Parts: sequence; C-alpha cells; structure tokens
Amino acid sequence: MIPSKVSLVDVGPRDGLQNEAAQVSTAHKIELVRRLQAAGLRAIEVASFVSAKWVPQMADGAQVLRGIARPAGVVHGALVPNLKGLQAVLALPLHERPAEIVVFGAASEAFSRRNINCGIDESIERFAPVVQAARAAGLKVRGSISCALGCPYEGEIAPERVGRVAQAMRGIGVQHVGVADTIGVGTPRRVQAAMEAALAHFPLAEVSGHFHDTYGQALANVYASLEMGVQVFDASVGGLGGCPYAKGATGNVATEDLVFMLDGLGIESGVDLDALVDAAAFIGGVLGRKPISRVSNAVLAKRRAAEPAAAA
Ligand code: HMG
Ligand code: MG
Repeated sequence: MIPSKVSLVDVGPRDGLQNEAAQVSTAHKIELVRRLQAAGLRAIEVASFVSAKWVPQMADGAQVLRGIARPAGVVHGALVPNLKGLQAVLALPLHERPAEIVVFGAASEAFSRRNINCGIDESIERFAPVVQAARAAGLKVRGSISCALGCPYEGEIAPERVGRVAQAMRGIGVQHVGVADTIGVGTPRRVQAAMEAALAHFPLAEVSGHFHDTYGQALANVYASLEMGVQVFDASVGGLGGCPYAKGATGNVATEDLVFMLDGLGIESGVDLDALVDAAAFIGGVLGRKPISRVSNAVLAKRRAAEPAAAA
C-alpha cells in the first residue's frame, strides 16, 4: 500500500556538490544545509570522508560538519568508504559528528573498482570493521548499492546481484540499504525487482530509493517504489549531482519535483515547497545556473509573473 508519509534525504550538499567542476566554498555549503533545514528536510547528506585526491570537492567535510546548525530531529549523514574515513569522523568532537554514516558499495564489479578502488567482495571486507566501529560509537550505518539497475561499464544489472550485495551488507551489520540507480537507466518494473531483492534482506522501513534522473525516469521509479510501500527516498535540491565515476550521469531526482508529486498525492514529507525552491535558487545562484528542476523553474516563473508590472 502507498505510504501516507515518507522521509526524504536531501543528498544535494554531497551527491550534488561532489560533482561540480567549481569548488563550492564551505560557507556556501553550510548555508545550503541551513536552507534545507529551514525548508523542513529532516535528513541531509552533508559530507564525504573520502580521498581529497579522488574527490577534492568534498575535502572540507569536517569544516561543514563543524559549521552547520543542528536543530533537534535533523539527521546529518556522511559517506565513509573505509576505516581511515571513519577515524576522521570519530576524531570529531561528539557534537560535530554526523548521526549516520553511509558505506557505499556497488552491484557492479567494474563500478566498484572505479569508484572505491576494490572489488565487491573486498569492499564488504573493508566495510565490516567500519560498520562495527561506527555502531559501537553510536552511529547509524546506511549502505548504498550503486549501479543497482545498470552500470556504465557492465550494462544492465540483474536484481539477484542487488540481492547479493544487500545480503552481504546485512551480514556485516549495515542497518539500512539504499538501492541506487547511479546512471538513471532504471524503469519502474525493473526498479520494483531491484527493490524486491533488497527487501528480501532488510525491513521495509530500512530500504530506500536513490534515483538519478539521467533518462527522466526518477519520479516514475519513486512512484513504483511507493507502490511497494517504500517510504524513504534520497533526492537532491535543484536536481544537482552525479558521480565522478559515472560520466554523463546527471543528478538525483530534484527534491522540489519529488515534493510537488508527494504533495499532489497527499503524502506527507514535512517539506515546504516554496522554501525548498528558495534553497534551489540559492545554490543555483552560487553555481551560476538555473536549477534543472522543472518544478523550481515553474514556481520561479509563476513568482515572476506575479510581480507588479511597475517592478518590470
Ligand atoms: P585507495 O587509493 O584504494 O586507498 O582509495 P588507499 O588506502 O590505497 O590510500 C590511497 C591514498 O588515499 C592515501 O593517501 C590514503 O591516505 C588516502 P596518500 O598516502 O596517497 O597521500 N585515503 C584517504 N584519504 C581521506 N579519506 C579517506 C581515505 N582513504 C584513503 N577515507 C578510496 C580508496 C575509497 C579512499 C578512494 O577510492 C576514494 O576516495 N574514492 C572516492 C569515492 C567517492 O567519493 N565516490 C563518489 C561518492 S559515491 C556516489 O556518488 C554514489 C552514490 O551517490 C550512490 C549512487 O548514486 O550510485 C552514493
Ligand atoms: Mg548518487
């Protein structure tokens, strides 16, 4: 049954900004997080503790975590690929830590090697002590399965391969799994099959969808997941994003587009669309371009049309 309420994780400050050619300042990242929180987002991915040589845009993760406000009820997440990343997180004072970390694997061997420089089995071995130490320190651990629908190097990915990684993640104590369509090639029935494979190993409340919108299928894929009762979705303000190791892949479904659809369906997300459009316009201004979100552009056009003629 379609849920009456969903949780959205805005991954814009991480998935979005990791992929920008220009380095966005720490102050602008902090302001983006503030605006997302003001819009009602209760979960935000704000940083990655990865190699600065691989992803220089995320090198200031610790400073971002230090600078953001922490209203009650807001969960901040950070990507952590290995023990070195976790050590950096645990070196932070308690009040500066993220509440959640994300270990990120893949259903495709080739993508795993490109993205985190090791194969799938080895990635699980690397994650195991990370998960154990993170949980011992009171952090929640999410797992992300990239290329769950298709891979830029291996083509179509069968659901069984998603199931295998989900099972392995579950086996090492990962508490939540995200089914990620890195290159946005999934279509609704195939997404349902990938979700089904993840749901064989995790409870419904602990499976989420992370859909890049490269082929314009992301909203349809969210809807297909809602039909299965899935209630947690990643989305990216302004539709920002991509992955440096999946060339040509565009951003996640824009949070604004998703909120507009959820509002129309009467599904509660707790997010205020107008404030979210402001946040998208803010980061678009920083990056020097319009948001790619259809809804943002429609709302902004409507606002302009409503401005008094004298202002023109
Ligand atoms: P590696 O080269 O195999 O690691 O990288 P290594 O252990 O051999 O170390 C090599 C160097 O990296 C050393 O430095 C380490 O200290 C350093 P050097 O001695 O050469 O100066 N290093 C680190 N530095 C900072 N933080 C760390 C760290 N680990 C090692 N944690 C590694 C392995 C995973 C670190 C590397 O491959 C990497 O950083 N990859 C980047 C992966 C990434 O951020 N990808 C984008 C995010 S994933 C994504 O977008 C997908 C997602 O959105 C879902 C979807 O859409 O599919 C989540
Ligand atoms: Mg992604």
